[in-house]
Amino acid sequence: MRVAVLKGGDSLERQVSMRSGARVEHALDRLGHEVLPVDVGPDLVDRLAAARPDVAFVALHGRGGEDGTVQELLELLGIPYTASGPSACIRCMDKVIAKHALRDAGVPTPDFYAFSQAAFEELGAARALPAIEERLDFPIVVKPAGQGSALGIKFARTAEDVPGAIVSAFSYDTKVLLERHVAGRDLAVSVLEGPDGPQALPVVEAVPREEDFYDFEARYEIGRTEFICPASIPDEAAARARELALETYRVLGCYGFARVDLMLDDATGELTVLEANVIPGLTDTSLLPLAAEAAGITFEALIARVLELAVARTPA
Ligand SMILES: Nc1ncnc2c1ncn2[C@@H]1O[C@H](COP(=O)(O)OP(=O)(O)O)[C@@H](O)[C@H]1O
Ligand SMILES: [Mg+2]
Repeated sequence: MRVAVLKGGDSLERQVSMRSGARVEHALDRLGHEVLPVDVGPDLVDRLAAARPDVAFVALHGRGGEDGTVQELLELLGIPYTASGPSACIRCMDKVIAKHALRDAGVPTPDFYAFSQAAFEELGAARALPAIEERLDFPIVVKPAGQGSALGIKFARTAEDVPGAIVSAFSYDTKVLLERHVAGRDLAVSVLEGPDGPQALPVVEAVPREEDFYDFEARYEIGRTEFICPASIPDEAAARARELALETYRVLGCYGFARVDLMLDDATGELTVLEANVIPGLTDTSLLPLAAEAAGITFEALIARVLELAVARTPA
């Protein structure tokens, strides 16, 4: 098949996407497909319309690529594409929407309150902060609704930290959430669809080596975060994490693959879902490929499966 690999773009996660794309291209080449690398930009529609690939592999992360925009364009162009459709992308890219959907479906997610910038500017939302602080306890996690890769996430340890954390989150999105902090272990469960439907891969645990917070730099500076797969957690917790990941995948309407991030509370053993990523990283240090490998699925087999699913999808 002729496969266009969509990568890059101008999101804050461009560099990771370039690495994901390069690895996907290599795998597609080894699988015998004809590869058309596409660094996504203003000429995307023209390029795709002219090239008419059999299928598009979307290796974009962040705004544009992961929020449903590119998926909608691909549908308009009639080009089959990998992974989730526009509606799941929209739900997952916005943590406020995703968390409401999870909560409504009974999937545990840390307590939260969300605000738009307009609520602060026009409705005096700042006056509601003390009530929120009382309900959530410190530290409070402040994050932009969108983006990813821990960009714009701050832990407010006292009431004095909250306004600054909110301002900083607003530099990434017009909507922010204040979320209950979970002191515990950082887990990720990837879901990959197989012949018998979605399958949860082994649990990955992210263990930061130095900081108490697994931040943006820690995540991408090789060696500063250690990823353990399968995670060394009790079997029951692992089984429950995989079950929650599958439920999350279903509730949010994902397709092909996705990665669900969870927290395992040290004190209570409770598992909560933080978010789902519809286009998880596919680099050689990314968690989905690592989990697939642990399940005996090579990177090439993973790519082949996701491509097959793209072609098999019946248009919405
Ligand atoms: N409520 C929380 N309690 C404790 N740690 C959190 C919480 N929310 C986020 N974190 C930390 O920040 C990381 C990134 O948060 P996440 O919600 O997955 O956003 P993203 O990955 O899109 O930046 C998590 O993996 C976790 O280490
Ligand atoms: Mg995450």
